[in-house]
Amino acid sequence: MSVEVRPIAPDQLGAFIRAFSAAFLETISPDDLRQWQRTWERTGVIDRAIAAYDGDTIVGTSATKPFQLTVPGPASIPVAGVTAVSVLPTYRRRGILTEMTRREFESARHRGEIAAILYASEGVIYGRYGYGPATFAAHYSITTDRVAFVPAVQDGGMLALVDAAEGRRRIPEIANRHSRLRPGSIPRAEANWDDWFEDAGKEHDGMSEAFFVIHQDRNRHDDGFVAYRSTGASLPTGPRNTVTVTRLTALSDEAYVSLWGYVLHLDLVGEVNAGNRPLQEPLRWLMTDPRRLRTTSVGDGLWVRLLDIPACLEGRHYLCVGSLTVEVRDAFCPANTGTYALEVGPNGARCARTNLNADLVLGVAQLGSLYLGGVSFSELAHGTLVEERRSGALLQADRMFMSPIAPWCTTDF
Ligand SMILES: CC(C)(COP(=O)(O)OP(=O)(O)OC[C@H]1O[C@@H](n2cnc3c(N)ncnc32)[C@H](O)[C@@H]1OP(=O)(O)O)[C@@H](O)C(=O)NCCC(=O)NCCS
Repeated sequence: MSVEVRPIAPDQLGAFIRAFSAAFLETISPDDLRQWQRTWERTGVIDRAIAAYDGDTIVGTSATKPFQLTVPGPASIPVAGVTAVSVLPTYRRRGILTEMTRREFESARHRGEIAAILYASEGVIYGRYGYGPATFAAHYSITTDRVAFVPAVQDGGMLALVDAAEGRRRIPEIANRHSRLRPGSIPRAEANWDDWFEDAGKEHDGMSEAFFVIHQDRNRHDDGFVAYRSTGASLPTGPRNTVTVTRLTALSDEAYVSLWGYVLHLDLVGEVNAGNRPLQEPLRWLMTDPRRLRTTSVGDGLWVRLLDIPACLEGRHYLCVGSLTVEVRDAFCPANTGTYALEVGPNGARCARTNLNADLVLGVAQLGSLYLGGVSFSELAHGTLVEERRSGALLQADRMFMSPIAPWCTTDF
């Protein structure tokens, strides 16, 4: 038997999705299948889908979506967002994913996409291909009884509870503006917003449909929103709901404080849960009792794989000027292995290969983790994953690469 990896024909999308669902042990309803097909046709992903074929049968799937990833600056770089990765259980561990990944990296390079990003179903899969986890997502739980905020600035803005149609008109603009500012974020396409609102209109896991509240600044410009669902529960003392914040995004500090204040002071609520939140959450400092905010889990978010190392390093900004030489080892794409000189001056960054001695030595997956500024060189060095060959280089790299605000991605794909 030989398996061949090639692009799919448009009429094979149904078979592609069914193979993918089987690998994920999921059944797919005809409605979901139609919706997936619609979205993929609208976003052009269908032209970027590849499959592993045994004869005419699809046994492996993968696709990429073209994104602009926000990097420290803020600036943005063109990346391939890898999605729908699967190999049928009967074809696993024969190198099919490895072959599909090779093909996708080649295609991304041809299209000028300088890095690949993805969410990983399992942490063990993608390190071997040079991906490193670069954003993280926390889940918080907050007990809201008698919750109080430290005195904060007076907010001259206002909040409005809006219906889904109004939310659909106004929320994407706020969220996409935020995504262009926050390292690790990706603005969402219109078709994906349609899906997001369609999902928000459905009850989930015993939770209500989503409610939407929009914040406007004192000049009546939209600058933040929260989407939340609730689960009902009744105590002898009265209703005590749990609210789940599915998204809270603020373009200003006032909007941030105001929206959290709204959620935490809702009547008939005893507990607020919020998932996929950034690791730095100013809310912790805002509550008179910071212990009310419990971090119930932290997991990896986006994994980043640098494909064109000089273009990626030139594509972001740095916190301070400086020069570094970095030796990068890349077993999956050996052509990338080498030493790179990074020169950051007042007018931006320059990066090229060099024959100079390396200040730091690391693997390409580690560079992927460091790239968005949410992980420090020193942390990886303490784990023996970055070698310091020039004294002081680690600290200098930390100062240059760090993002003052943790990278965060709220767009799944
Ligand atoms: C993950 C998946 C796509 C891997 O496909 P595959 O064709 O078996 O992968 P490959 O044969 O190319 O594996 C390459 C290497 O990775 C290892 N590997 C791959 N997936 C692994 C996993 N889930 N757990 C442990 N090791 C894994 C293989 O053992 C192999 O190691 P080796 O080079 O030392 O032999 C497949 O297992 C799958 O479809 N899983 C369910 C769906 C899923 O999780 N998809 C990923 C979505 S992000």
